Amino acid sequence: MTNDLYAVVGHPISHSKSPRIHSLFAQQTGEALEYTAIQAPLDDFAGTVTEFFDRGGKGLNVTVPFKEQAWQLAAQRTARAEKAGAANTLYRDDQGRLTADNTDGCGLVRDLTVNHGVGLAGARILVLGAGGAVRGVLEPLLAERPASVTIANRTLAKAETLAQLFAPEAASVALSACGFTEPDQPFDVIINGTSASLQGDLPPLSPAVIGIDTVVYDMMYALQTTTFNQWALDQGARHVHDGLGMLVEQAAESFRVWRGVRPRSEPVIEVLRND
Ligand code: ATR
Repeated sequence: MTNDLYAVVGHPISHSKSPRIHSLFAQQTGEALEYTAIQAPLDDFAGTVTEFFDRGGKGLNVTVPFKEQAWQLAAQRTARAEKAGAANTLYRDDQGRLTADNTDGCGLVRDLTVNHGVGLAGARILVLGAGGAVRGVLEPLLAERPASVTIANRTLAKAETLAQLFAPEAASVALSACGFTEPDQPFDVIINGTSASLQGDLPPLSPAVIGIDTVVYDMMYALQTTTFNQWALDQGARHVHDGLGMLVEQAAESFRVWRGVRPRSEPVIEVLRND
């Protein structure tokens, strides 16, 4: 019998840690599967997905720049994918319908709450950015019942649009939008979901947003401390995390969706830190 086949699809894809993560999960759980990386042509994501499932593939992870296309292509979406507007996990259900899920937000929340022991209930949270990455995590964040979520973005209108879109999920959470320079009080948790660090850039925040107990989380990860986390450390932050744990947690949740088994993420995070 051949192993069940899974893959991550993106463009570019050679840097992806997903094959490594899922191989470690398979080893740990004894699940018989193979997980590869596929670079889809920029103009034919749909063809790549169809071809993969038609030759018996069981599940795909989707990464930049195809998450929105994956969402659109699917015949049906889980509730959490629906609101995220993007999908990082695809599979065919037992009737063969292409199904889209999004495990990114769940991954972020688990990394914060389980791996780093951060309580989000009642917390005052500042979220930086208003692009796809932030949209993908807002619903699970709001579901933790923080006291407030402030979305700050370079383009204010995009932050306002997101705040309106998620107003129904906010319920008792005070959800608001602003520019980067407005917030001037310490937050309990600050999550950087901008891609500014990619260009070595920093959102122009007031140092006053960092208190001694503020938890700072950059959704990006890198071998070195990210530009944003270094800024936070320079302002005196003591609890600073990058997105490696989120990456492993979203993968663990995809693995659970596909296989019905949740791998332990902590040993895998440890291996990746030392790779
Ligand atoms: P992603 O899928 O990574 O979220 P995106 O949808 O293009 O990508 O969103 C990128 C986010 O990073 C946006 O919030 C963007 O701000 P704008 O909405 O004003 O474009 C933010 N961003 C990108 N470069 C930035 C920079 N140099 N400084 C501050 N914010 C930046």
